[in-house]
Parts: sequence; C-alpha cells; structure tokens
Amino acid sequence: MSSEFHIPVLSHEAVRLLINPDLKNRVLVDGTLGGGGYTKLICEGTAEGDFIYALDKDLNAIDEARAKLGFCAKKLEIINANFADVAETLAGRGVNEISGIVLDLGLSSFQIEHEDGFSYLRDTPLDMRAYREDPLTAADVLNEYSRHELLRVFEEYGEIGNAERLADSIAAERKKSRFTTTIQLAELVESEYRITRKNRMDFLSKIFQALRIEVNNEIENLKMALEQSLRICASGGRIVVVSYHSLEDRIVKNFFRSNSAGKNDPLEGKLLKILTKKPVSPGWNEIKSNRRSRSAKLRAAEIIQTQI
Ligand SMILES: C[S@@+](CC[C@H](N)C(=O)[O-])C[C@H]1O[C@@H](n2cnc3c(N)ncnc32)[C@H](O)[C@@H]1O
Repeated sequence: MSSEFHIPVLSHEAVRLLINPDLKNRVLVDGTLGGGGYTKLICEGTAEGDFIYALDKDLNAIDEARAKLGFCAKKLEIINANFADVAETLAGRGVNEISGIVLDLGLSSFQIEHEDGFSYLRDTPLDMRAYREDPLTAADVLNEYSRHELLRVFEEYGEIGNAERLADSIAAERKKSRFTTTIQLAELVESEYRITRKNRMDFLSKIFQALRIEVNNEIENLKMALEQSLRICASGGRIVVVSYHSLEDRIVKNFFRSNSAGKNDPLEGKLLKILTKKPVSPGWNEIKSNRRSRSAKLRAAEIIQTQI
C-alpha cells in the first residue's frame, strides 16, 4: 500500500475544530481512520497527556495506518471496530468520557479502487463490504431484495429519478442470471437507461453508492455514532462530521439542531453549541486537486453541560 491510499479531505479544518484548546488531558477519537491523514494531524496537534483512539472497520486501513503512524504510538491506539459501537469499544478500555470525535464518512480511495464491488470501472465480485464479517453483500441485495426494497435503496440512498425502472429491470434480469459482478450491473444500467458519456459517471456512481450505503448500514451507523458521541463527550468536547451525501448531511444537521440550545429535553442534560453555522466546504484549490472532495460538507458542534 502507498501514500496514494487516500487523500484526506478538509483535514486541517476538521482537526482544528476537533481539538478544543481549552481542554487538557484530552481523549480524542478518530472514528474513521482510513489512510491515517486526520489521525496524523491529530497526533501532531495534541500535547503530552492527550490520548487518541482511531477506529476503522477495514483491516486494510488498519495496516496502512499502523505503518504510517508509528511516530505517535505512545499516545495512539488503533482499533478495528465499527464507530457505531464507539461507546462500548471505549468502555472496554476503561474510557467512559471523551473530549471529541471526528467522523470522515464514506470510503477511502483505496477501498474504491482496490476492494471488490465498489467501482463500476473494474470487473470484480459485487461485494462492497468494508468489514469482511458483515453478512450482506451487494450481490445479495440485487439477488434477494424485493422490488419494494430495491426501490427504497435507490430512491433514498441514490436519489435516482425513475428508480422503478431500475428495480424492474433488476428483478427481470436476475430471473435469467443472478448478479455476480460489477460489470454485469453496469451493463444492465447502460442498456436500460439512455445515458450519455457525459452523465454515465454520475449515474453509475449514484447506483453504486446507494448499494454501498445499504450493504454497510451506513445511515444507521451514523445515527448510532452521533447519539453515543453526545453521551460520552464531556463538556467542551467536540463532534465533527464530514459527509459526502445529502442524506448524511441532513442527519448530522438535524441531530445538531435538535440537541442545540433552546431545544427541550437534552440527552443526559447535554446541549450542543453549533460551531459551523453553515457547513464548511472545500475551496476551489482542494476540489481541483482532489475531485472526490467536491461533495464534502463539514459540520461541528461543542457539548455544553447543562445539568446532570
Ligand atoms: C473517507 S475514509 C477516512 C479517511 C481519513 N479521514 C484519512 O484522513 O485518511 C473513511 C474510512 O472510514 C471507514 N469506515 C466507514 N464506516 C465505518 C464504520 N461504521 N466504522 C468504522 N470505520 C468506518 C472506512 O473503512 C474508511 O477507511
């Protein structure tokens, strides 16, 4: 694996918002280690007495980051875990309170380019699991889901217009032969829809993204991680999320708003102060040098302890 593993997006902005300079002996969590870009900056930006936990579901990310982050070993533990289980994972290490967590959602470039099923540009098995132990693959979704379930996936996660047509053609195709490879799906889509060369990439990306979100339970994981983060973050702790999909961004925005000052019934007496009135987006230079950053939106909030 190489330095091309993943180009971090909005990394300086995310890490600056994560580290509250007013706190000491901070416990910080990078819930999406990936290529270790954010974790490296967190290591560099923290002081003696601080400690960092970095989580990833994907073992390739863990191997890559271990090789890269040796300089920080004294104050870093890398853990192969789902961020949806962050509270339990840390409690197992005797940690019940943290000073901040960052989530940089989605996949690393390495996963898209080298792991099975994520890209329509290579012919690979329709797998798409970031975590090999997970039970569901993309082929299972295409071969086993009812038409109704397929519609939900493509409409909600892909925001695809005329998703009925796609669901119908998948249901018809699998009667002839079961889905096994990425190119089989890409060819079906191209034969069903009149897509031009110009919109081919966007359209196929949306379909593959929708399947990936379903296979990896990404929406549910995000909701669980947000709730647990609020519960275990101490006063002054920060929650920072970078998302690449409008549904994920909406979930983060609504979570921050519904737990922010002025709202009733805060979770465990904690309220959030929103630090980003508008989401932070990459500048033109970042988008130019890293096309994958173009849809990124960063939101951050700080915990205010009201009462216990
Ligand atoms: C966009 S990359 C993160 C890149 C990282 N910020 C960097 O600077 O290199 C997203 C990473 O999150 C991981 N991931 C996605 N969902 C996860 C989950 N529920 N729990 C833990 N890791 C997850 C993916 O395996 C991937 O490595």
